[in-house]
Amino acid sequence: MRQDLIDQARAVMARNDRGHYTVPTAGLYPFQWNWDSALSALGFAHFDEARALTEIETLFAHQWPDGMVPHIIFHQPDDGYFPGPEVWGTERPVPTSGITQPPVAGFALARICARARDKAAVMARARALLPRIHAWHEWFFRARDPEGTGLVAIIHPWESGRDNSVDWDDAFARVPTEGVKPFQRRDITHANPEHRPTDAQYTRFIYLVQLFRSLGWDNARLHDASPFRMVDPGFNAILLRSCADLADLAETLGEDQIARSARSMAQKGLSAMATLWNPSLGQYACFDRAAGRLIDSPSIGGLLAAFCAIPPARAAALAARIDALGAQARFMVPSHDPTRPEFDGKRYWRGPVWLIVNYMIADGLIAAGQHKVAERIQTDSIRLIEESGFAEYYDPLTAEPCGGGNFTWTAAMVIEILSTGRVPA
Ligand code: DGY
Repeated sequence: MRQDLIDQARAVMARNDRGHYTVPTAGLYPFQWNWDSALSALGFAHFDEARALTEIETLFAHQWPDGMVPHIIFHQPDDGYFPGPEVWGTERPVPTSGITQPPVAGFALARICARARDKAAVMARARALLPRIHAWHEWFFRARDPEGTGLVAIIHPWESGRDNSVDWDDAFARVPTEGVKPFQRRDITHANPEHRPTDAQYTRFIYLVQLFRSLGWDNARLHDASPFRMVDPGFNAILLRSCADLADLAETLGEDQIARSARSMAQKGLSAMATLWNPSLGQYACFDRAAGRLIDSPSIGGLLAAFCAIPPARAAALAARIDALGAQARFMVPSHDPTRPEFDGKRYWRGPVWLIVNYMIADGLIAAGQHKVAERIQTDSIRLIEESGFAEYYDPLTAEPCGGGNFTWTAAMVIEILSTGRVPA
């Protein structure tokens, strides 16, 4: 085991630890982010189970009454970030954003429980979190799947975590820009502007925030009112995996009603995932619900579908597709196909490699018996750290570190990958 890398990763996590939550990195992201926290908890759990659970508990302490868990908790003022609480105007006791993020918390909690060293203490805290996480999952199907398709839509690119993916280009072009109040971006004072979304994208990000705010952040209205409604296979795979894992955990805890309800959401969604298979790409793809069509964009969102229990033949096809991408990229897995003209190896989600997505894809491929590709993904992940440190993301062709540095979830994934023996020694 690479104890030196684990020690460095722990130092990164300690630097971003604010006691009861972590920031993704100081400066660029100075608050608590939803999926960052849940994935960081996996790293903490290897050396401090109690601290790992605190990370998830802090997140859920800010759950909205309707079940939604916001994507940012603004624990303390910091004017180094835009858009801050005054732009969101959600009027929560501790300010939060008004949209959500990929629901990895259910998966993370179940995994922490399965590996718990202090079983009694961990299970007691998990029992308290269980109904809250389940309520979030129910919220998704209520608020983001009003027609009961089994799959949920995101209504803002920030919800996917893949803010500027090529996947959104066509749909985002339909989002108006009129009426957007003048604003000053802060992200490009912390990170290279060429690694970040464009001004045109930011204007539309803010248009949507203003629109949702004008509707009082009423989740009963936002889905239908949003001009951007996208069914992302990666996002849904995370939700369905979390539902299935939460069902298992609920069974272990004797919470049969939650177990049944979570299992039924997972099963219905898994059947519906078949509708997102794009045969011409040989992978899953996003369904643009506002336009009513499957889009033709070979991004990592369609590969992340491997994280849920897709049919074995589909997992094998995704493994083959990822293997083929390996001919184009030195480091797996690029967030967009390098052969496509829109690919940009340094610009956020338009090409760079992200360790958290690598981890989730590899995890799904291992469960599906696709060990060879999973091993390459994880070996490449550690090579990136060795070459370029704990960055937010990396150029898949050159390993150049991009975005923010000293990144919490990158460090957490290194601890997770190395501590679970997922790369050859
Ligand atoms: C950002 O500010 O870049 C985030 O991705 C939004 O959550």
